[in-house]
Amino acid sequence: MSLVHGTELFAAARKGHYAIGAFNTNNLEWTRAILGAAQELNVPVLIQTSMGAAKYMGGYELCQQLVEATIKSMNITVPVVMHLDHGNYEAAKAAIAAGYNSVMFDGHDLPFAENLEKTKEIVALAHAKGISVEAEVGSIGGEEDGIVGEGELADVEEAKQLAATGIDFLAAGIGNIHGQYPANWKGLHFDRLQELADVIEQPLVLHGGSGIPQEQVEKAISMGIAKLNINTECQLAFAKATREYIEAGKDQEGKGFDPRKLLAPGTKAIEDTVKEIIGWMGTKPVKLVPEEI
Ligand code: G3H
Ligand code: ZN
Repeated sequence: MSLVHGTELFAAARKGHYAIGAFNTNNLEWTRAILGAAQELNVPVLIQTSMGAAKYMGGYELCQQLVEATIKSMNITVPVVMHLDHGNYEAAKAAIAAGYNSVMFDGHDLPFAENLEKTKEIVALAHAKGISVEAEVGSIGGEEDGIVGEGELADVEEAKQLAATGIDFLAAGIGNIHGQYPANWKGLHFDRLQELADVIEQPLVLHGGSGIPQEQVEKAISMGIAKLNINTECQLAFAKATREYIEAGKDQEGKGFDPRKLLAPGTKAIEDTVKEIIGWMGTKPVKLVPEEI
């Protein structure tokens, strides 16, 4: 069993100036691809479900059990953190109850005082079970599974207050965007990242990781980013490989329509993408004693 909570893993990453990949899953194929890539590279990994993906897959318990059972059936030995991505207050509580190892409470769209108050409540509930908590300050631009943000830069004073609630990692708006970056995107705000890194001890989280140039990702990691969130990149890779399979007429050759064949190129493309991006992060093969779930 290699499911673990996130606190120590990510703290070690920030201290060691590397990051751990946080990849969104949507189904069994996605889950197998992410786990297989991490195992092959012998590095810890975080698998996360958005609220939308969890609803699509059948709920938080099913998602938790799917990941747990897949780890077992694939003999995965690297540490794996099962995490809720961009959860509202109710979702965070549901994921905690379902046995997730880590939750993000995303209160960016609430008045800050309410974001702070609810973050405190989630920290108390989660930490009573050893579950790690991510909070968000500022916002991530664009849209992901119904979560919309204007891309406001994180306010350093607000970040300090959120950090003081005892959260385990902090997602901060630093010019990052969910989904594909527009051609005129100006890049990450490294000055704001530095201001945050100077006063926040916890590992920092870079959302909207898909499409950020490798040198910016590496610079951000060197400054305190310890969790890199990737979703769109895997979706694009899966769609491209699947389209190529169909456009080549392979679904019409023999039993090429069998989902085990039809979904194979896309699944392989996700695995290759995960491996490539992990390669940017310098992730170390941390060994932890697996915890009871
Ligand atoms: O929460 C998940 C992410 O921030 C992923 O963003 O789809 O732009 O990679 P992305
Ligand atoms: Zn995100």
